[in-house]
Amino acid sequence: MASTYGAAQVLVASNRGPVSYEVEEDGSLRAKRGGGGLVSGLSAIGPDAGALWVCSALSDGDREAVRRGVGEDGVRMLPIPAEVHADAYNGVANSVLWFVHHMLYQTPLEPVFDAGFRRQWENYVRYNRAFAEALADEAAEGAAVLVQDYHLTLVPGLLRKLRPDLRIGHFSHTPWAPVDYFRLLPDQVAREVLEGMLGADRLGFLTRRWADAFTACCTELTDGLGDTEVGVHGLGADAEFLRARSHEADVEERITGLRAEIGTGPSGAARKTIVRVDRTELSKNIVRGLLAYRQLLDDRPEWRERVVHVAFAYPSRQDLAVYRDYTAEVQRLADEINSQYGTPGWTPVVLHVKDDFARSLAAYRLADVALVNPVRDGMNLVAKEVPVVSDEGCALVLSREAGAYEELGEDALVVNPYDVLETANALHEALTMAPDERAERTKRLSAAATALPPSQWFLDQLRALTGA
Ligand code: F6P
Repeated sequence: MASTYGAAQVLVASNRGPVSYEVEEDGSLRAKRGGGGLVSGLSAIGPDAGALWVCSALSDGDREAVRRGVGEDGVRMLPIPAEVHADAYNGVANSVLWFVHHMLYQTPLEPVFDAGFRRQWENYVRYNRAFAEALADEAAEGAAVLVQDYHLTLVPGLLRKLRPDLRIGHFSHTPWAPVDYFRLLPDQVAREVLEGMLGADRLGFLTRRWADAFTACCTELTDGLGDTEVGVHGLGADAEFLRARSHEADVEERITGLRAEIGTGPSGAARKTIVRVDRTELSKNIVRGLLAYRQLLDDRPEWRERVVHVAFAYPSRQDLAVYRDYTAEVQRLADEINSQYGTPGWTPVVLHVKDDFARSLAAYRLADVALVNPVRDGMNLVAKEVPVVSDEGCALVLSREAGAYEELGEDALVVNPYDVLETANALHEALTMAPDERAERTKRLSAAATALPPSQWFLDQLRALTGA
């Protein structure tokens, strides 16, 4: 199996790990590797150097792999009981902490912190304790532990008690709520979250804005940061990987398919494309993006038949009704726009919901305009990936509430994500941007987006934590 107790020099802990398993029809297990910044970041070190990734066994296949003792070197999956995981992940992390940090609650209906929430919170504590205990078992004397995200805010404090010798870091991939919004949480819970994180030697955030918000919460609700350092580590796109991957045969094939779906306008020229790629999730603001597109078609009839909104909205966290309802609303509005404006040869919104990375890359390459309009987002890597792989240059319409705005704001068309009219006007401006200007801006966006590749992001954090 994957680990040798007490030997790991560098440990990462996160809810979702770098690999997951599926049980095949013949009973064998098939491993599927995950993507993302953290996976490429950790591969800069790898198991040979004593790196270990501790994560949850999430799928039936993962739990079966744990039962059979199957695993990858450098990965340890924890078989958390299903009800504990459901309360911690769906209940506390994705219905409460995610909503607080992205400021998604719509009063007067939400939030309600009742006895059911208290039970979920107890399971969140249990879930965090399971991670802290596993990390304490696995870590070598003086090892460095990098804990990830809002699922595991209590781990630093719990681990510190078990293993005072360790260097402990925590990194937040989300925004951090302003103090008045953070105080929606029950007082005791708010304090436990902050004190849990303050068990770390060092806390990392994606932007200065989120780091400052955390510090403000500590000033107001605890005795301040104490000995804990707070640092900012923006995460960039992996240029080398994206450029190579986006020219593989399956992506070329998807480009041909997409071109056929997009079609040509009345003059015979290829239609312009406004592309978005997201997990379908409330903070991504897909519905207001569709409303802005409809406003564009309303206000500027010259775009009818000449533009297509290519929207890839991949379902996420479907165990929760609020995410399912949002997914249904995206579909309903896309259908409504298509029946309102569509013609036999033109589908105004091409919506795909089946996750397909090759097709996402194909859309990035073809995009004339990328729409990235989250109401709040820790960073948003789509905004960074599109300019890197774009074939002909792509104008970026970007929310000022995305972390990426701090690095890309100068060359993007920046919008208030709640302002549908402003977003519609920005889409028009983006569609009419002169090709030279678009190419120049894309070049600068790409340079800014790749300044901090994931491997460097990871190593920088590790260096800052260990001083080595
Ligand atoms: O943005 C926070 C985050 O945890 C990311 O790191 C990750 O890409 C995303 O949310 C995935 O969410 P989930 O694991 O719930 O699908």
